[in-house]
Amino acid sequence: MISVRVTQGSSNHTKAEATIYFVPESFDFAQYCGEFAKSNCSFLQQLMEKHRFTGSLGSELAVPIERQGVVSYALFVGLGKALSNGSIPVENMRRAVGTAIKKSMALKSESCCINVPDAGLFGVSEGYLVEQIVIISNMASYHFNEFITDANKKFSLFEIVLCGTAGDCTESIKRGEIIAKGVNTARHWIDLPPSDLTPPQLADKARAIAKEYGLAIEVFDEKKVNSMGMGGLAGVARGSDNDCQFVILRYTTAKKDAPTLCFVGKGITFDSGGLSLKPAQSMETMKEDMAGAAAVITAMQIIAQLKPDVNVIGITPLAENLPSGKAIMPGDILNFYNGKTAEVKNTDAEGRLILADALAYASLECKPDMIIDIATLTGACTVAVGPFYIAMVSQHEELKERVKASSRATGERVWELPMDEDYRKAVASDVADVANIGASQYRASTITPAFFLQEFVGQTPWVHLDIGSSAYNTPDISYLRPGATGVGVRLLVDIALQWR
Ligand code: BES
Ligand code: ZN
Ligand code: ZN
Repeated sequence: MISVRVTQGSSNHTKAEATIYFVPESFDFAQYCGEFAKSNCSFLQQLMEKHRFTGSLGSELAVPIERQGVVSYALFVGLGKALSNGSIPVENMRRAVGTAIKKSMALKSESCCINVPDAGLFGVSEGYLVEQIVIISNMASYHFNEFITDANKKFSLFEIVLCGTAGDCTESIKRGEIIAKGVNTARHWIDLPPSDLTPPQLADKARAIAKEYGLAIEVFDEKKVNSMGMGGLAGVARGSDNDCQFVILRYTTAKKDAPTLCFVGKGITFDSGGLSLKPAQSMETMKEDMAGAAAVITAMQIIAQLKPDVNVIGITPLAENLPSGKAIMPGDILNFYNGKTAEVKNTDAEGRLILADALAYASLECKPDMIIDIATLTGACTVAVGPFYIAMVSQHEELKERVKASSRATGERVWELPMDEDYRKAVASDVADVANIGASQYRASTITPAFFLQEFVGQTPWVHLDIGSSAYNTPDISYLRPGATGVGVRLLVDIALQWR
């Protein structure tokens, strides 16, 4: 984590190794480039013209400067154009912060000073802007490097000094740090090799978080899962030597009669496909298949610290999906926690099998006011919405609106897919209550699993989020890098914080 502090002084007087100026497209030089620009006016203007630096989104210009006898950089970063309403989208600021941090690190700056632009430029409050700067700076500087032994390939940014803020930013910085730490923790778990993060190891991490942040926790091991009749989770885990785990984290608000929200995250620590084995290339990134569980556990970590006025329960079924002489077979019929049965037609559609027990447990035992599940559920999600969106499937209009509002507030983009009744027949089975894959003529394989999952939520308002395309290797976003994105963490946290 980067340490962030505020200075009331001018950025000219910090010892930061890079000083960042954010400038809108076709900017006013004197207004945006600060004191440094005033004393280097014609030189800087020439340089910007020469490099055709106009402030367009994604652009940057690093100017080496000497400060108190030490090499430093003035780094100009473009914010892009304002919309027709006159304000610049906050996402432009997030991208610009990502660009600035990546560039500072490439320049080997261990500390940088950020001149915080006027929040009015984005139509937001200063507190929110500062919080976003803190979150994104930390996301941009994340690097999964613990297995890299070459010291030249590792570099850390240690300190950010914020300049030019008007109000007291202490709370916003703290919130930003809490959220960023959660997001980067999720990314770290997802990036860990699957042999270093088995279901019992991930359950241990949840235990450590419960202890550190004061959450209640219950963990059911494989024996208990079996005895409770969770045949979906137990079935998927049968092929693996590692025990499955069922983790329940609880945050309880001090407020009386508060509603209860339930988050359920898919936690397949490795998905080989089982006997319906995946081809080698599709298996390469399947350590990402616990990204939903990681999002739920780390959202709980954040919620424990930000303390919203709602009760929140985070449930994560954890298992490995491997083939072996003990593994479930296509044709098997499984019995779930709510008494329903499912025909397994394809052992690679395992996510819905473990989620089924978790959703049934959530609705029957927790009686929550709503359930949101988050899962790297389908490869088809990549075709449906691609790497920049979470796919949302639900028949509950009001809950979908809440998710969309939090999507706008956090910048975690959500796209709704239709859950029309026409698709329901896709998961009909001749021999059980439901089948675990959709019949081929219905296609739409990011939509049809929602009808499978719906069998297990009863009447509870429920939204299904598929992060199959956005949890890993999202390209081109300046504050991400190859590997885990941490998608969903900020969204879930905001839903809990905004709940009224
Ligand atoms: N974990 C995969 C989905 C996935 C694929 C996530 C690629 C992220 C990237 C899931 O368990 C799976 O294998 N789904 C199958 C379902 C099919 C058998 C109906 C799929 O999407 O191909
Ligand atoms: Zn699978
Ligand atoms: Zn899977």
